[in-house]
Amino acid sequence: MPPRHLLILGGTGEARELARRVHLMIGKRVRITTSLAGRRAVPPTLAGDVRCGGFGGIQGMMQYLKENAVDLVVDATHPFSPTISDHATVACGDPHAGGTPRLQLVRAPWRFPPSAKWIEVDDFASCANYLPQFAKRVFLTTGVRGLDAFSGLDDLWFLVRLIDAPTTPPPLAQYQIITGRPPYMLEDERAILAEHRIDALVAKNAGGKATEAKIVAAAETGVKIVLIRRPPPEPGPTAETVDEAFAWVEARV
Ligand SMILES: NC(=O)c1ccc[n+]([C@@H]2O[C@H](COP(=O)([O-])OP(=O)(O)OC[C@H]3O[C@@H](n4cnc5c(N)ncnc54)[C@H](OP(=O)(O)O)[C@@H]3O)[C@@H](O)[C@H]2O)c1
Repeated sequence: MPPRHLLILGGTGEARELARRVHLMIGKRVRITTSLAGRRAVPPTLAGDVRCGGFGGIQGMMQYLKENAVDLVVDATHPFSPTISDHATVACGDPHAGGTPRLQLVRAPWRFPPSAKWIEVDDFASCANYLPQFAKRVFLTTGVRGLDAFSGLDDLWFLVRLIDAPTTPPPLAQYQIITGRPPYMLEDERAILAEHRIDALVAKNAGGKATEAKIVAAAETGVKIVLIRRPPPEPGPTAETVDEAFAWVEARV
């Protein structure tokens, strides 16, 4: 039997780990392609093949699946990447009606220690409305998109952490930018909170080990945590862990 073609929609640590494990354990039975959006200047090294850049919407993804004889799709994209996940749902269609079997790998949300002071808000705008009620010095870790929502908060000081330095200054009155790439270490996160006298942490409710340390550090030190709520997952089968996603693939090849 020729190898089955697995498409992993990637851009996360889980996608990288799934590709590594499939390659190592059942690589003779599976041809792996990981798809990346192509946002990073230097794409990471991954097990199997890599394709970069958008598909060109749902139609483009459908065409890709057909032309490349994709047998299985694991959508292991970030929980805050709803567009690509929606496209995958539609492009893969119903597996019982000739569509491509698709699994969504959705990591578990963080679990908070009882001491944590945290709240979840619907979106960036709600977060910006809420922050001035209690915060003066904010550690903003939600990425470059969404910064506009905080632009009117001139009395607050922001420490903005981004993966790459921005090409244009953020629309904030008082800020400092730092750059960093996950995984982040607990000691470093504690030091950032202390050094900058942070009183509020803003994060997407993304879950995952790689960025969990900021939550732990904030909970320990009484820093208030404001989380942006996740978009709901797509309909269809989901896995929470790479182990579960691997088992789903293994059962189908
Ligand atoms: N959003 C975050 O906070 C975050 C954090 C860490 C990693 N990431 C990763 O960064 C990538 C982009 O995230 P996003 O939030 O910009 O996505 P998005 O808003 O859901 O998707 C926007 C468009 O980018 C393209 N795209 C996204 N992911 C792709 C992939 N894996 N392969 C090929 N094309 C992809 C698609 O273009 P077409 O319509 O042209 O196909 C999609 O319509 C994702 O792979 C995600 O896993 C995102």
